[in-house]
Amino acid sequence: MSKKRIGILTSGGDCPGLNATIRGVARACYDEFGKDLQIIGIQNGYYGLINNIAREMDITEFSGILTQGGTILGSKRQSFKMLSSIGEDNVDYVKKMKNTYKDLKLDCLLTLGGNGTHKTANLLSQEGLNVIGLPKTIDNDIYGTDVTFGFHTAVDTATDVIDRLHTTAASHSRILMVEIMGNKAGWLTLYSGLAGGADAIIIPEIPYDIDSICEAMQKRSDNGHRFSIVAVAEGAYSKEEAKLKKKERAKVRLDAGITTATATIAAQVQKATGIETRVCVPGHMLRGGSPSAYDRILATRFGVRAAELIADKKYGYSVAMIKSEIGENPLSEVAGKTKFVDPDGGYVKCGKALGISFGD
Ligand code: F6P
Repeated sequence: MSKKRIGILTSGGDCPGLNATIRGVARACYDEFGKDLQIIGIQNGYYGLINNIAREMDITEFSGILTQGGTILGSKRQSFKMLSSIGEDNVDYVKKMKNTYKDLKLDCLLTLGGNGTHKTANLLSQEGLNVIGLPKTIDNDIYGTDVTFGFHTAVDTATDVIDRLHTTAASHSRILMVEIMGNKAGWLTLYSGLAGGADAIIIPEIPYDIDSICEAMQKRSDNGHRFSIVAVAEGAYSKEEAKLKKKERAKVRLDAGITTATATIAAQVQKATGIETRVCVPGHMLRGGSPSAYDRILATRFGVRAAELIADKKYGYSVAMIKSEIGENPLSEVAGKTKFVDPDGGYVKCGKALGISFGD
């Protein structure tokens, strides 16, 4: 009998839990298929699939990686637009990826990634390949799953940053503004803001009014609070900017020499309130480090579910946590959608009940 050949790749931004997922899939697959299994590691995401950069992996490579951040397979961002259409370079990337799948004699392909990765996974699935997606991202914005692996570790890290900022904020009677990753969705800012005791949480789902943020900071000062902490999502924008199309918004910022709103908000708050205001941008530190216990378990459970889907030959799905149970969604239902924070949902309501300003 020929071996079961499972291809695996990690695509998009790295995050804690990728290796734990790879290990979970591998261990469960070795348990299911034993010596009849060959896992093929595809290097640097879809780039490796396009260019046939892959290797047959040894069982020992899946040991000792549960706690390792990043990805042993390497990763790369590849725009869906470029992959899905024949552009000026006249390269048919879909054809190239299908050819590699065929050359590697794969029975199926596992794609570990975020929204962009899932779009390409769905495209390949529609092209007839046996694909299973696994939802990773610190942004927690993949549609159809309660949670993505990598998110909770990043929440822990961002919360730690906020905790540490309290010291300087209190000692120097300052406002400390922390910019948290998350371009489209504000989950990471919202969770770490709540966990870290932020006084204002500014997320893309709730365009901000600068006067409202300034008033909230002034009110805290008037009430005798000597410092404030503001958590601002990387993708936050103002009510004025909300009136513009995404591209126009980006152009306005480019012309002003800025990419995110945090420094602008800080300058405006300092001017309006007279309170010294500083900015901290932890950036990619939020994607680093060993996965938390929560993420190790989630990643392992997702990996095991992927192995079950392979055993059942159930392809074209993305593994998910659905109402606290492990399950899966059709890739076609996940691809191209984003899971946003509900501005009227429970988490925001909870924050508002505590007097946290959302800048609206
Ligand atoms: O999707 C994860 C993420 O960290 C986002 O929060 C952030 O906007 C983006 O990736 C940054 O990507 P890059 O590492 O390519 O700059």
